[in-house]
Amino acid sequence: MEALNVERVKKSFRSDMMFSSKEILHGVSFSAREGEILGFLGPNGAGKTTTIKIILGLLRQDHGSVTIFDRPAGEKRSMSRIGYLPENPFYYPHLSLKEFLEFCGRLSGISNKKLDARCEEIISLVGLDRNKKQKIKSFSKGMLQRTGLAQAILHDPDLLILDEPFSGLDPGGRKTVRDIILELRNNGKTIFFSSHILPDMEALCDRTVIINNGAITKSIGLDEIFRIGENRIEITARGCSSKTLDDLRDYLERVDNKDEETFLFVKKQEYIRTVIQHIYNSGGEILKVANEHPSLEETFMNLVNGEKASAEKASEKSNSENEMKKEEVS
Ligand SMILES: Nc1ncnc2c1ncn2[C@@H]1O[C@H](COP(=O)(O)OP(=O)(O)OP(=O)(O)O)[C@@H](O)[C@H]1O
Ligand SMILES: [Mg+2]
Repeated sequence: MEALNVERVKKSFRSDMMFSSKEILHGVSFSAREGEILGFLGPNGAGKTTTIKIILGLLRQDHGSVTIFDRPAGEKRSMSRIGYLPENPFYYPHLSLKEFLEFCGRLSGISNKKLDARCEEIISLVGLDRNKKQKIKSFSKGMLQRTGLAQAILHDPDLLILDEPFSGLDPGGRKTVRDIILELRNNGKTIFFSSHILPDMEALCDRTVIINNGAITKSIGLDEIFRIGENRIEITARGCSSKTLDDLRDYLERVDNKDEETFLFVKKQEYIRTVIQHIYNSGGEILKVANEHPSLEETFMNLVNGEKASAEKASEKSNSENEMKKEEVS
């Protein structure tokens, strides 16, 4: 069974001007299978939180549907099976951790008989035993994040939706959260989480869905990000004609131009010699050869920017074709 199914969801927001609105999600579709960890990756402003809020019924989509364990999202029964960690959670600062969790537990219908033991169990799971009597207002960012996770799993939900669970955590804190997520998965839970931290995605996820500009990308996979991110061979040259670059097309990942310099990103180590020789033979000059390891974040941003540029080109092309058709008709 699918734990979560998001089908062609669209969402627009009113812009500052009263009557205009802007589409933020353009038909987002994906699903999470029961028992898997599904990562939701995307740059700032891609639409992750908006999608998550729609799944939770905190926002209403304009189009499309969401189901939780095959039942419409928003139904009480579906909602009771979800645990949620918001991107910017709010906790009552004057309560201690234990008091706060007891409050959350009562809200989610945990019986008084079970409540104390359950709170103790969860406090221990998130590694805050020593802080259970401490007021939340004195908690560090990492402790707050663990508190958020504790309230999300307290009622033993089957589907966990975590919006940036690693944000603000040090390596130790990230490991704790990672271990908790893995343990939950081993106990049969489904976890859907957003993050910008690619190594955490890779270490944890069974699958990753990538969102860019309000649409799920089809052309970029996590595998590809890691493959390209492994090694970047960059040749800086001068005097490369467009014919030279065209001849080398199959050997190059990407070409950038700045002023008179051309930056050639070579696909594989073994192509370097061919590329350099061809540039020399056709009258070009090699200024620099660098073999670098870009950060995964950098690779990811390059890929999504490339995709954005080709989408914009396609849209410009279709707009100009439409214009031409209009002219032909008139
Ligand atoms: N209530 C709103 N009204 C108008 N625009 C909004 C609203 N909420 C979000 N947006 C816009 O929708 C887009 C997507 O925002 P969203 O918060 O979903 O992105 P995100 O992927 O979660 O980003 P981040 O990684 O920064 O958390 C942004 O351009 C944002 O400005
Ligand atoms: Mg967000």
